[in-house]
Amino acid sequence: MSCIFVCGIGLVAEWMLPKHQTPVRFRYPAHVFDRLSVPKNATVGSTNNMKILSIETSCDETAVSIVEATGGLEKPAFTVLSNLVLSQIKTHEQYGGVFPNIAKREHSKNLGRLIETALQEAGLFVEQKNSLTESQKEKITADLSREPELCTALIELFESSGKPAIDLIAVTFGPGLEPALWVGINAGKVLSEVWGIPVMPINHMEGHISSVLLDTKKPVEFPALALLISGGHTELVLVPDWLSYKIIGQTRDDAVGEAFDKVARMMGLPYPGGPQISALAHEAREAQSDIQNDAEKKSEKKPVQNFNFPRPMIHSADYDFSFSGLKTSVLYKIRELKALQDAHVDGGIELPVETKKSLALAFEDAVIETLVVKTKKAIAEYKSKTLILAGGVTANKAIRKAFQNLTDEQTASGASTQLLIPTHELSTDNALMIAFAAYVRFSKNSTTGNSTADVHEIVAQGNVQLS
Ligand code: KG4
Ligand code: ZN
Repeated sequence: MSCIFVCGIGLVAEWMLPKHQTPVRFRYPAHVFDRLSVPKNATVGSTNNMKILSIETSCDETAVSIVEATGGLEKPAFTVLSNLVLSQIKTHEQYGGVFPNIAKREHSKNLGRLIETALQEAGLFVEQKNSLTESQKEKITADLSREPELCTALIELFESSGKPAIDLIAVTFGPGLEPALWVGINAGKVLSEVWGIPVMPINHMEGHISSVLLDTKKPVEFPALALLISGGHTELVLVPDWLSYKIIGQTRDDAVGEAFDKVARMMGLPYPGGPQISALAHEAREAQSDIQNDAEKKSEKKPVQNFNFPRPMIHSADYDFSFSGLKTSVLYKIRELKALQDAHVDGGIELPVETKKSLALAFEDAVIETLVVKTKKAIAEYKSKTLILAGGVTANKAIRKAFQNLTDEQTASGASTQLLIPTHELSTDNALMIAFAAYVRFSKNSTTGNSTADVHEIVAQGNVQLS
């Protein structure tokens, strides 16, 4: 990927953006939908019951959610009032990656409409004609001078809706693409100023960690270990307590999702690559087990070729990762196979789909083994009671299964570690995870009264790390 493609690409799935750009609602289990009404006489502004509007624009998904949160740190529980994700994948597809300025333009075009839709869906849109004063309009126009479409949409919103019963606005401030992050931050600032609602900046990776809280039945036990695997990150993070982080290992080159995307591109697979590779690997795995289970029919099945790729740094003394050598091994193997087909080495020749499946399987196996071995070692060293798996790559079923097996094994041997993984829909970027993180942060800080920021101090930080 060239330097313009600096972030991971979201998963294309049925719940994502159709061409006509309608925001997509995630499907949730019935019990969540059952609670989609806003309770009357709610106590707002306390951790007992607060409504959070969250905005996520760090990469190529424009996302807005509204949740009602209760339970504090002991038993955080969330009712989803609205959850919208508008993916830009179709826009970026033609370039094979995400252009920051195009991402910014798309966020600016769509964010205002998403905020209004979310308020309507949550039943919090207060229909009321208001007129902004000239000086208010001037201020909004100045604050959003770089996001003209967002400016128009928010002015329309303020002129048609009164202040909604939202207690807190949460915005992603980094890491991610700075031009894209600024759109969400600026929207949060303007909403906060006009409606007088506090705003809280949230780290995107803290959001991914918090994404597991939607369905968590038991309290999270500490110390926890988080394995964060996305398009831009591969990190093992020790979490001794809520909101306390120590990065104990990270990739020295490519992130896991980035390696999936690059390998997919080498095989001529459509963008984005992670889900494509995982689908091919899945088919190869199925074929392999069919053949093993049904020896008689063996001849009818296409055999899976055995490729074996390296597991870089798997036994290194630290917890760092490296995926660029693995990616290069796949590249060399592809070249070799193409050369065997007597074609131009880097030419447009297509490998047979069965070969692609076998390559995808071998690549995925190498990634999984590396992640599992290192994580297992870290769980033992840090005596982690909880393993949190988060980031877009956790949409990968084989990875989810491998970590389930790991924690099952541990339970069987008496050293149990609770595994928390986000639902499939919450694996890739979304705004719910930002609301969850904000609630945890607000709950933890509410005793100190220091939980929100001065809106003017919030700054986009493209490379910020968890700390
Ligand atoms: O967390 P995310 O949505 O965005 C970033 O913050 O990076 O992660 C996107 C990454 C992409 O690299 C994408 O290819 C990868 O997650 N991904 C997958 C799968 N679904 C998404 N990788 C492997 N298998 C999948 N099923
Ligand atoms: Zn992400």
